[in-house]
Amino acid sequence: MVKRNSCVFISGKGSNLKNLIIKSRDSSFPINIKLVISNDPNAYGLRYAKQFSIPYYIIDTKSEKYENFLLVKLKEYKISIICLAGFMKIISKKFIKNFNKKIINIHPSLLPKFKGLNTYSRILKNREKISGCTVHYVNEKLDNGRIICNKKFSIEDTDDQKTLKIKTQKLEHFAFPQALIRVFNKN
Ligand code: GRF
Repeated sequence: MVKRNSCVFISGKGSNLKNLIIKSRDSSFPINIKLVISNDPNAYGLRYAKQFSIPYYIIDTKSEKYENFLLVKLKEYKISIICLAGFMKIISKKFIKNFNKKIINIHPSLLPKFKGLNTYSRILKNREKISGCTVHYVNEKLDNGRIICNKKFSIEDTDDQKTLKIKTQKLEHFAFPQALIRVFNKN
C-alpha cells in the first residue's frame, strides 16, 4: 500500500497528533506523518514531534508571509493531506485554494451543531442529551465542510465541561484514524 504524506497542524496538547503518529506506524494505515506545524512554540504536542523525530515548524500567524512559507514546506514534504488537530487559527480561503489538496479537521461536537469555540459550555447550556466529535473536510466556512465521520456518546446529568472533554477526546482518538481510512480507502 502506498502511504500518503500528511502534515498535522496543532496548537496545544497534541493528543490527537500522538494518536495519529502511533496509528501511522501500522503499515496498513493510509498516511505517514511527515511534518508537524504549530502556531504556538509552547504547544505541549510539539514534544511528540520531537519524540518521534518528525520535522516541525513553528509559525507566526501574525506575519503576513506565514501562509506562503507553509505552502512552500507542504510542497517540499510532498504533503497530500493536512490534518487539523486542535489548530486554533482559521485557515484562509486563499490558503485552501492554493494548497488545492485535502484538508480535514476534528471538532468536539456533532456538527452541524455547535460550530466554533467554547463548544463544551454551549453543549451543557443547551442541555443536550447526546454529544460527540466530528471529522470533516475543511472549506472556506468555519466547521462547515462535508462530514467524513462522527462518534457519539450520551451526556449524563453529572457531566461537566471536564468530563465532556474527556469523553469527547476518547472518541476523537477513534474518529480521526477512521476518517483517514475512509478518505483514502473509500469505505
Ligand atoms: C480536540 O478536542 C479537537 O476536537 C479540538 O481541539 C482539541 C485538540 O486536542 N479541535 P489535542 O490537542 O489533540 O489533545
